[in-house]
Amino acid sequence: MVATPIQQKYEIKDIGLAPIGKQRIEWAGREMPVLRQIKERYSIEKPFAGIRISACCHVTTETANLAIALKAGGADAVLIASNPLSTQDDVAACLVADYGIPVYAIKGEDNETYHRHVQIALDHKPNIIIDDGCDVVATLVKERQYQLSDIIGTTEETTTGIVRLQAMLRDGVLTFPAMNVNDAETKHFFDNRYGTGQSTLDGVIRATNILLAGKTLVVAGYGWCGKGVAMRARGLGANVIVTEINAVRAIEAAMDGFRVMPMGEAAKEGDIFVTVTGNKHVIRGEHFDVMKDGAIVCNSGHFDIEIDLEALRAKASEVKTVRNFTEQYNLSTGKAIVVIGEGRLVNLAAAEGHPSAVMDMSFANQALGAEYLVKNKGQLAPGIYSIPYEVDQEIARIKLKAMGISLDSLTEDQLTYINSWTSGT
Ligand code: ADE
Repeated sequence: MVATPIQQKYEIKDIGLAPIGKQRIEWAGREMPVLRQIKERYSIEKPFAGIRISACCHVTTETANLAIALKAGGADAVLIASNPLSTQDDVAACLVADYGIPVYAIKGEDNETYHRHVQIALDHKPNIIIDDGCDVVATLVKERQYQLSDIIGTTEETTTGIVRLQAMLRDGVLTFPAMNVNDAETKHFFDNRYGTGQSTLDGVIRATNILLAGKTLVVAGYGWCGKGVAMRARGLGANVIVTEINAVRAIEAAMDGFRVMPMGEAAKEGDIFVTVTGNKHVIRGEHFDVMKDGAIVCNSGHFDIEIDLEALRAKASEVKTVRNFTEQYNLSTGKAIVVIGEGRLVNLAAAEGHPSAVMDMSFANQALGAEYLVKNKGQLAPGIYSIPYEVDQEIARIKLKAMGISLDSLTEDQLTYINSWTSGT
């Protein structure tokens, strides 16, 4: 008799990497007091008992702490990567070996594998989707309408995913509630700004080991992520140029002390370029044509669409790997352009993503957003929901306490004053 092969419940690089992953996950956990507190409550209350969760996130030490908290809460959770280049293989191994959480993610997986893993996440028949970029939800809506009856809702991590959900809502195809984690104050003020600011430059530095002081660094996009990158680049001594399409943000960048100009002009001046706009082909053929020899180009926006690499490839006579995650395009004109991380998220491709201390708050929002959906199952109309104000404030209070910082409080007199309209000048 031929034995039927048991279907493997994970797809990772090497299960032998688990001990390294465990050490690193625990290290990250030290900086995640909010999520730790949530996990402790989940272990007792089991809010996700009987709930299937498919999470599509960057498989990092921080995500591991989220997945472990969800499992402690009783969830039947699987995890896939939200980007082909962001997976930390030791983390994936540890989640499988030590926590019994099925993971489908391998650093450097090709696009076909990535999309197959999205299908596996849906094969899990999720009640809750935790998405980062909206790929699982978009695939569900496009290809698996028959599974909609299982869905309680989704939580979305990132600006790009929220923009996609808003488009789905406009098109009338979002038929379940979605929690907008990105716009929680304890998420985007910290993760998008300080997280992206630090981790993007960490990626640039790890990949190239260049000195930023004295260089001209061009940041495309002055949203929260762009603000963070610009601020931190200035802190390291770079001359920062910002490009924007939004007039208000352009004024803000100018008043923050940065030079603001169109990419067509900035392209001639920059030594390093970082795109964080969420839109496609922000750096394209006409820009490569005028860049300096040796210019370094990378992206910290969610998808690998911001840099038109096809246009660059078409101009190149040779592409060679010069360092880890760093490729040099030698152009037929004799000039070279350097691209980090294949134009994918540089902070996750070439470094380790945002530090744990900010992901603590982002993932506290994810966990509490998912819990909110479960608690309100059947009560929420299709739509995009903010994380409740009280939840956001509670996350901030726990974080502040863990940081050893105390708040001031209003006196009775101040309370009366602030609630009254009668006393003016
Ligand atoms: N997105 C940015 N940084 C991240 C991290 N460290 N873990 C998970 N998702 C992220």
